[in-house]
Amino acid sequence: MTDEGLVEVGAHGRACVVTLRRESKLNALSAALEAALGDALAHPDVRASACVVFTGGERAFSAGADVSELRDLDPASILAYYRETGAVYERVAALPQPTISAIAGYCLGGGLELALATDFRVADSSAVFGLPEVGIGIVPSSGGMHRLVRMLGVARAKELVLLRDRLGADEARALGLVAEVAPEGGALERALELAERLAGLPPMAVALAKQAIDYMPDASREAGLALERLAYGLLAQTDDAREAAEAFTEKRPARFRGR
Ligand code: COA
Repeated sequence: MTDEGLVEVGAHGRACVVTLRRESKLNALSAALEAALGDALAHPDVRASACVVFTGGERAFSAGADVSELRDLDPASILAYYRETGAVYERVAALPQPTISAIAGYCLGGGLELALATDFRVADSSAVFGLPEVGIGIVPSSGGMHRLVRMLGVARAKELVLLRDRLGADEARALGLVAEVAPEGGALERALELAERLAGLPPMAVALAKQAIDYMPDASREAGLALERLAYGLLAQTDDAREAAEAFTEKRPARFRGR
């Protein structure tokens, strides 16, 4: 546990699970919860893991920003917020290993923005998604609008931010917001299966694939292709790639070798 028990960190095989534990407030993302989440990212179990799974409770992954902290903020404190605990979403996005959100119950506002900062989302069939910010006179501002536009395109992002109230798990899957829907109560188990699968892949190839894909939308075609080729050039020289090529060649009957 970190910072007054608001976030729990635990190793599960080669993966690590980071659990939001502010259940009485549906994991509303207060500054204290964001700080605890930031501390969790530096935990040795997180740093040593091949994949990080973020999850919440049965009723809520997170019901979003703590609305009780949104009142009476002056410009200086808002700027300070983004320098301090408000930077945690970008820190999650910048983790070098793959990340998965296992989502049950409410996943609203900043909670959805946190989930969008991870690489994959697995939704329990009970999950409810939504971005209520505009309805309360603000906008998603933890990287969520930018990520949604990249992930789903301008029209879908506007739909989610401006038109849609709540979205169920299947609808979220159909939109491309979540990778998989698990049966009720099964999101974490499924996320851990995916984590174990990711942990079994060559780690340098996984890390470079993640980083290259994250950079692609900002890259010109030429820079993107160069990035792919440079990553390949580096990875092709690793023991993982050499051993895989040798094992493949040995397995094939002699008459197919060299084709
Ligand atoms: N910020 C602060 N507290 C929150 C919260 C939030 N975003 N979401 C829920 N809570 C608190 C409630 O105040 C309540 O606390 P209390 O028991 O001390 O009164 C507790 O969590 C349980 O929430 P409650 O509203 O009683 O549960 P519910 O099942 O009736 O409704 C929601 C669940 C998610 C529909 C409702 O809590 C909600 O609309 N929350 C706000 C969502 C939101 O606007 N998020 C984006 C903010 S930008």
